[in-house]
Order: sequence, then C-alpha cells, then structure tokens
Amino acid sequence: MPEGIYSGANPSEVMSDLRNLVNFQDKGMGVTELTRELEEKLIPHLLNYSRPEFQSMFNTFPEEGAFVGAELALRFNQGVTNWQVSPGGAVLEELCCRKLCELFGLSEKSDATFMYSGTYGNQQAIYLALHHFAESKGFDYSVEGMTGFANPKKLKILVSEDTHFSVTHAAHFLGLGEESLLKVGLTTDQRMDLTELQDALNRNHSEYEIFCVVCTLGSTITGSVDQIQKVTEMCSDYGPWLHADGAYGLAYSLLPEKKHLFAGIELADSIVWDPHKQFGIPIPSSLLFLKDGSNFSRVNVHSPYFNREGDEMPNPGLKSPPSTRPFSALPLVTSIRNQGLDGVRTRLRSSISAISELSKVLTSDNEIEVLNKPDTGVICLRVKPEGTEEDQLCNLQELVYRKICSEGSKSISIATINGKKVLRLVSVSPEVTVRALQSTIASIREVAKKLSKSGPFVR
Ligand SMILES: Cc1ncc(COP(=O)(O)O)c(C=O)c1O
Repeated sequence: MPEGIYSGANPSEVMSDLRNLVNFQDKGMGVTELTRELEEKLIPHLLNYSRPEFQSMFNTFPEEGAFVGAELALRFNQGVTNWQVSPGGAVLEELCCRKLCELFGLSEKSDATFMYSGTYGNQQAIYLALHHFAESKGFDYSVEGMTGFANPKKLKILVSEDTHFSVTHAAHFLGLGEESLLKVGLTTDQRMDLTELQDALNRNHSEYEIFCVVCTLGSTITGSVDQIQKVTEMCSDYGPWLHADGAYGLAYSLLPEKKHLFAGIELADSIVWDPHKQFGIPIPSSLLFLKDGSNFSRVNVHSPYFNREGDEMPNPGLKSPPSTRPFSALPLVTSIRNQGLDGVRTRLRSSISAISELSKVLTSDNEIEVLNKPDTGVICLRVKPEGTEEDQLCNLQELVYRKICSEGSKSISIATINGKKVLRLVSVSPEVTVRALQSTIASIREVAKKLSKSGPFVR
C-alpha cells in the first residue's frame, strides 16, 4: 500500500492514468506486466483505508484474520448459496448466523441471513414489514403486492430526519415512493424525537397507516443511537414492524460500557448490521437479523433446478433473493477466531475512545465548536477562526473540506446538522488514534485561518 491517503490527483489526471487500463487487446499481457501496470497507474489513486489519516467514512482495511477467510473462500469455494454449491459453506453460514444471534442477545426464535449490503438489508426488512402488515389486512403480499391494499397512499414508514438514504432507496424500489416516508425530527442529542414520534403515532389510522418504524442504531451523520427500548414500548399499542438500522452502530452493543445504549434490541422485528464497517471484514459483509426467523419464509422462492421445494439440505440462500452470493460468513468467522472476542472488543473500543478523547480535548477550544456528544465513533464540528461571522461558517466549512480532501494526505467528510454545515471525522479502525485526529484538527485550523485571511468567503 502506498503512503498517504491517495495521490491527490484530480479527476482528469486520474482519467489520463487509467485510460490505458481498458485498452483491451487481442493478445493478453500476462500477470507480471499487468501487476506492474496496476501498481504504477491505479494503486496511487486508490483510497488507502489503512492510514490513520483516513477519517471520512465507515470503510476499513480488512482485519488480518478476515484476510485469511476471504482468500480461502476465493481459492476454494466462493459461492455459497446452498448445499448444492457449497455444503460446508451453507452449514458454516447457518452456524455463524445462529451464533451471531446469540452474541447480540437475540431470542431463541431469531435467525439471520447474510446480505450484499446494509442497503439491501434495509430494503428486505421493509419488504417484510409490508408482508406483516398485509397479513393483518388478510392477504398475502407476495401474491397481491401493493394492489392488495385498499389505499396504498396511506402507507407510511416512520423514520427520523437522520435516517440513512438507503431507506429512501427502499421506498423507491418497493414501489412506495418517497411520500411514504413520514419523518420525525431529532432531539438536541441527535436521537429520534420521541414526542414527535408519539404525535405521529397518535395520528395513525385516521390520517395514515404506519406499517413500519425505523430506528437508527448509530446514525451515519453523528453516530448517535436511537432509544430503541422506548420506541418499542411506544409502538407496541400500534403494532407496526420495528426495524433497527444498526448497519454502523450495532457492533458497539458488544461493548459492556455501551450496552445500555442498545437496551431493547432484542425487541426489534428486524436489525441490519454491516461487519464490513468497523469490524474490518471484506465487502460485502452485511446481515439481516429477524426476531422471528420463520419470517424468512416470506422471501422463499423455489425453482425446479435450484432451491427446490421440499429439498431438506441446509439452504441459507432461501432467506434473501440473490441466487449467487459470496461466502461472507467465512471472513467474519476467521476474523473473530483470530482476534478472540476480547480482541474484537479492543478493536471496537479503540475506534470510539479516539473520538471521545478528542471530544473532551475540544470542549474548551474557542475555535472549534463540537455539534454532537459522540455515542460512537463520529464527531461533527465547525471551525470558527477568530472574527468569523456566523453567516460565513457554512461556506468556510465547505471550503476547508474541499481543500483538505484535494491535498490527498487526509480524508474527512462534510454533513449538515440543523441546517449548519459541519466537518465530520470518523474513527472506525484501530489505526485512527487521537493523535491522528488532533493532527487533522490542526490542519483544519490552519486551512481555515488561511482562508479567513484571504478575504470574504460568504456565498
Ligand atoms: C446507518 C446506515 N445504514 C445503512 C447503510 C448502508 O449500508 P451499505 O453501505 O452496506 O449499503 C449505512 C452506510 O454507511 C449506514 O451508515
């Protein structure tokens, strides 16, 4: 891996380096020369997640033990839909799913499946919620679909303003449309506002039919965890499906000191989790957990040649649509076995403690305003050099963000909280230390100072 986050080249420079890579010739070039060409032309432009300066997204460099499983799968048996394509793969995936249910404290009846991504996990969960609701109306959603509902326009998914955009995709792809998303606001600690939630639930049935409530366990923007126990209690009188999007945050429920934030997860009807985030498992590695595993039968589709009806062999592939799926369970298993659960907890702890230490350091800083009290590994802040006016701040953050990212030595992100643009630093791997974060803060300060000296930047 090269030093630095990436080359710092702009899109046209990257384009000019890569153009030749798709110059397909009749004669093959062989692996040695191909590798040399890739090292020279492509690798410098790839983003290096293994660097401590990578502080922008939830991606990680694969953990050592995960590498072992990923390579083994590629070498021996990468496709693992069912017994027919991988006897050992099918069984290991089933065993792994059951063990993970236990590890997260889910009930005996729970079950899980591996998915291609958290996005598809959220989509499948909302599909199951529709099924569940259709059943309460007396029809089978897999047969009648939307046409079975008397008034599909009334169907609503209750989400917070901070819900991940994959839920919007789900609304599109499931034929519900964005108007089906009923958004409630956030509290000052960036969690779903329960008063607004109650208001929305009170209007259920008269104005609309809420068939699903989505909580976020670790929001993308601030990493905050919704109060799932309270949400479940509030929803119990109304009966909507409760989905928990723990794509990013669920992993932290394995830490005793963070467990209280996740109290009640066993009550959610479905939960999504992405081990390809801070666990460091190669992409794709996502899971969908169901409180009642028998609900997976709602996505079973059989064919006369594959996933045959009545076939009694282990078949994890019946629990989600793809008929070709990767052996994602193996790198997860080898990673946990390599580190041990203690090692996993140490890894998780290091990512959040770097952020909480930084947050403490910044509380007394006059030039940096922190906008969230981090539950997990994300901190959102604004840089405010002395003399900068409030109406200049959004533009300043945008310019600082662009400048830092264009240099190629650090990777940060930008987001919006309550209409304010904020710089967002993320720590998802043990490489990101508090020192590395402080060095980013120093760069942010320096860039902001230069920009504020160079003249007005209000747009
Ligand atoms: C809270 C949350 N949900 C869902 C997703 C989507 O997951 P994926 O990127 O695996 O599709 C993300 C991605 O970062 C996320 O942060």
